[in-house]
Amino acid sequence: MIVNNGRLKIAIQKSGRLTDASIDLLRKCGLDFEFQRHSLYSPCRNFKIDLLSLRDDDIPEYVQDGVADLGIVGENVTKERQAKVKHLTRLGYGQCKLIIGIPERSKITSIRHLQDKRIATTYPVSLKQFLRSKSVKAEIVELSGAVELAPTLDVADAICDIVSTGTTMRVNGLKPLTTILESQAALIVNGSSYADKEKRNLIDRLMIRISGCLQARGKRYLMMNAPMKSIERLKSILPSMKSPTIVPLAEKDMVALHTVVAEDDFWDLMENLKMNGASDIVVVPIETIIN
Ligand code: PRP
Ligand code: ZN
Repeated sequence: MIVNNGRLKIAIQKSGRLTDASIDLLRKCGLDFEFQRHSLYSPCRNFKIDLLSLRDDDIPEYVQDGVADLGIVGENVTKERQAKVKHLTRLGYGQCKLIIGIPERSKITSIRHLQDKRIATTYPVSLKQFLRSKSVKAEIVELSGAVELAPTLDVADAICDIVSTGTTMRVNGLKPLTTILESQAALIVNGSSYADKEKRNLIDRLMIRISGCLQARGKRYLMMNAPMKSIERLKSILPSMKSPTIVPLAEKDMVALHTVVAEDDFWDLMENLKMNGASDIVVVPIETIIN
């Protein structure tokens, strides 16, 4: 029985592609919990929220029906299940594509060639919508899993399935024909929970933390010393979020410059900074950025 004890319930995938990254995100938000994959509930000790571990395919409906207030699930799943939930934010992980794949040696070379063919999938709703938009009539073979085996078993001529790294397709001798949709993990919420004053307050607090973690992802905090006269040159090199922080040092005519940089740019940037007068460059990870 679901009790309303004033605590939020957030559904996450019990075991699969999104599980570890979702747990990691919630921990980075400062939530302290022991994740128990095999038990339904994992209570959080320092925030009024409990984690519910569920099959990802069930999460949109459970959020829609209020079994959980929030859910972390792939956009592909929410779209397929046509759940009436509010989309709060994309989470920047769990990227994947819903594609139509065909055997390596298939004669099919275009979407038109799918006419009257059999396509195996666990995504009948999305596939049907796609075929309709292309005016192609094909037979949809609805399976509950292991879709990639369907062509080998001769139950289908093509498949419509999720591709993330592409390994599953490749080892099964399949290649992509076309992409139906692109997806990533997203945070969804039940409409009534979002309208409830007490729950909304908790959701907003959690959202601030999540946005902070998303903003900090892939960023590093950079500190360096430089002679005062190099500041303008260094400032023009630095792609700062805002203007860099400049702190005077005890040593005359020397300052410290602090700023946030993207991890990807860091090595190129460091060489450039060094050539332009910066020294004692220190880079530290960022936990969160609250604007
Ligand atoms: C998808 C899909 C493949 C796999 C592809 O499953 O059904 O099995 O991921 O990943 P790859 O391209 O990295 O090999 P999903 O993670 O959505 O899990 P589920 O169908 O069990 O929910
Ligand atoms: Zn699934």
